[in-house]
Amino acid sequence: MYKNTIIIATRNNNKVTEIKEIYSKLPYEFTSIEAFPGMPEIVEDADTFEGNALKKALAVLNFIREFPVLADDSGLEVDALNGAPGVFSSRFSGGSSRNNNLMLLEKMKSVLWEMRTARFRCAAVFIVPGRKPTISHGTIEGRIGFEERGEGGFGYDPLFIPIDSEKTLAQMSSLEKNRQSHRFKAFTKLRSAIFAEGA
Ligand code: IMP
Repeated sequence: MYKNTIIIATRNNNKVTEIKEIYSKLPYEFTSIEAFPGMPEIVEDADTFEGNALKKALAVLNFIREFPVLADDSGLEVDALNGAPGVFSSRFSGGSSRNNNLMLLEKMKSVLWEMRTARFRCAAVFIVPGRKPTISHGTIEGRIGFEERGEGGFGYDPLFIPIDSEKTLAQMSSLEKNRQSHRFKAFTKLRSAIFAEGA
């Protein structure tokens, strides 16, 4: 009915790649909103990941209308910073993601290893035209390292060391990251909704 196409509501190519990899066995074509010129900018001003993910999904559904939409909102919560940067993760320093990492290291410079606990959170939404959205969540627990390590992944990956790992997420292959990530967990939970309502 929907020509086997599902729209991913993001312009972040790293996310598109990760989501396509997570769903590589599903018989659908995943297309990012880059393929739909004229899409208005979506202001991510909700105070929860879920609120922002829903906002993105609904905005894209209203613009494109004929295809099911997947959206996510995600970010890093650092315990020593009372949960910051949270929903401000992409805008933490007001600059590039490298600057976000440098600012995080600066704020954490006097925090001991035991107290450097943090987690990535992801809220994922799947919505089919005319139906209620399905929402799921995923987290990965870890610590913030003392320096950037690794070239893979994106965002805060060079600083994030999952519990029970010696490597940062940026030092892992994409498959290794995608077996345990917050995004993998949230999107895996959406799989059955996609099968039930999707194409
Ligand atoms: P979003 O595109 O609004 O969901 O912003 C997510 C922001 O959180 C990104 O720009 C990164 O700064 C951070 N983030 C989310 N997921 C990840 C991840 O898997 N690795 C590293 N940083 C992430």
